[in-house]
Amino acid sequence: MHSADSIRPQALICARAEALAILRESAPALKAAAAQALYARVQHGSAAIAPERSFDEPAGLPGRPARPELVEPRKLGRRSMQSCEGRAVLLHALAHIEFNAINLALDAVWRFCAMPEAFYVDWLKVALEEAHHFSLLSARLAEFGHAYGDFPAHDGLWDMCERTRGDVLARMALVPRTLEARGLDASPPIRARLQQAGDHASAAILDVILRDEIGHVLIGNRWFRHLCDEAGIDAHPTYLRLADEYRAPKLRGPFNFEARRDAGFEEEELAALAGLDAQPPSRDAG
Ligand SMILES: [Fe+2]
Ligand SMILES: [Fe+2]
Repeated sequence: MHSADSIRPQALICARAEALAILRESAPALKAAAAQALYARVQHGSAAIAPERSFDEPAGLPGRPARPELVEPRKLGRRSMQSCEGRAVLLHALAHIEFNAINLALDAVWRFCAMPEAFYVDWLKVALEEAHHFSLLSARLAEFGHAYGDFPAHDGLWDMCERTRGDVLARMALVPRTLEARGLDASPPIRARLQQAGDHASAAILDVILRDEIGHVLIGNRWFRHLCDEAGIDAHPTYLRLADEYRAPKLRGPFNFEARRDAGFEEEELAALAGLDAQPPSRDAG
């Protein structure tokens, strides 16, 4: 990486300011393309990272299109994977998650200052990969005659981002290590249902996403531990405290232990999850 003063200033843009600008972009395809371009610029040295810079939060984050209509999760129906419409609804829900994931990654870049430069590069890479996931799902959706925005979507995905806006430790604990890690658990059964329905093209997209998401959770684990080490606090009890304090969704199995292990969870945490897995499912499970 280049330091800000090692390159001619007029050749540079500020990667963190640009991340904020892309976060405000409301057109999904433009947002995705810009997130991918920004990572390339950082790699090529035409965007520089200024960790100490801080920014005022503009109103109305994140930029998003007028559609999809955002509704409470309980209002979203589940449909059969056997029908094209059912699979389009599923692909749309996944595209919505990825759209939000682009926003979440960009938000970590502009919002939290004074982190090591590698922190920003990691989250810019996550934004790039989320943009890729969004693009894959959008293209697949188009093959079903649909586009992002055609169906209603979950209104709660930006919630944890807002709740943890003031605390990078809580953000790392609760967004990548909780929400994205839940995606690791959710992926294999969804993939199996697609495969069973004979939709191999969609199942193949799920493979790409799972592979990359392991990396995102690993990044979350890396920075969560970095912050715990700096503060001289133990990671696992700190996670439990933050999950409680910020009302994180309760974890429930079945867990994808293999993916979670690859994503950097330690044996102590995996054993705690195995304990949860052994309990009878709660009534709202599913
Ligand atoms: Fe993703
Ligand atoms: Fe992700």
